[in-house]
Amino acid sequence: MRSKASFRGHPNHPALIPFPLAFLIGAFLFDLVGVVFNRPALWTTGAYLTVVGVISGVVAAIPGIIDFLYTVPPNSSGKARALKHASAMVSALILFTVAKWLRGDVTTEPGLPVLVLEAIGAGSLTVGGWLGGVLVSRNQVSIDHRYAGAGKWKEENVDKPASGQPVVVAIDGLEANQMKLVHVAGKRLVVARTDKGWAAFDDHCTHKGGSLADGVMICGTVQCPWHGSQFDVVTGGVKSGPARESIKAYRAEPSGDQLKVWL
Ligand code: FES
Repeated sequence: MRSKASFRGHPNHPALIPFPLAFLIGAFLFDLVGVVFNRPALWTTGAYLTVVGVISGVVAAIPGIIDFLYTVPPNSSGKARALKHASAMVSALILFTVAKWLRGDVTTEPGLPVLVLEAIGAGSLTVGGWLGGVLVSRNQVSIDHRYAGAGKWKEENVDKPASGQPVVVAIDGLEANQMKLVHVAGKRLVVARTDKGWAAFDDHCTHKGGSLADGVMICGTVQCPWHGSQFDVVTGGVKSGPARESIKAYRAEPSGDQLKVWL
């Protein structure tokens, strides 16, 4: 049994993150200035900003969880970074929620504990926001950076074959210099069509775990999107670093509109 699965490149999370960042850091600044200059209107605004900021943070977290589970490749530097990013953002939401609970009514002047919690929360948001920026720019999460001729993103789940039997992947519609990501019982595999035939290899760059299916492939060479390592898709050998270790390549034979891959 096979099924298509494609949550990759979900664009909503980075697009939604500016809202909690702006509202919650704004809440802290309004509260601080309101207390320093004794302006109730400012700290009341801060209280409302806290409520809106926490709600927008929860909304932004939903596509964030989807990105974490389905877009960021497993066992990679990006996954570790995404975990730190999520921890920082969730901590900030908890801190601002507790701060709001402590202050009670929106018109109540925030005391020192509230301001301290909000200050730590704003710091946490800053660190989490910076990590999120690195995830977008370096790990290219949620950026559609497909190369010319790559075709639409292709992804498929296939069942694990019986012992000794090949994995069977549909390859209809896959043209020369195009790749497809395949999930086989938790393993990520790339099947690729080159000018000279077919190839199959692990979707895991040996440098820091970038997804090769998300990279660029041309003339039998695949380039990792994160730091540019290049590998021969048939032998798995390194053509250019920073990676030093080969990727694992597999025997792949076409059969009609299917590709048989021996893992
Ligand atoms: S993860 Fe660094 S080159 Fe692939």
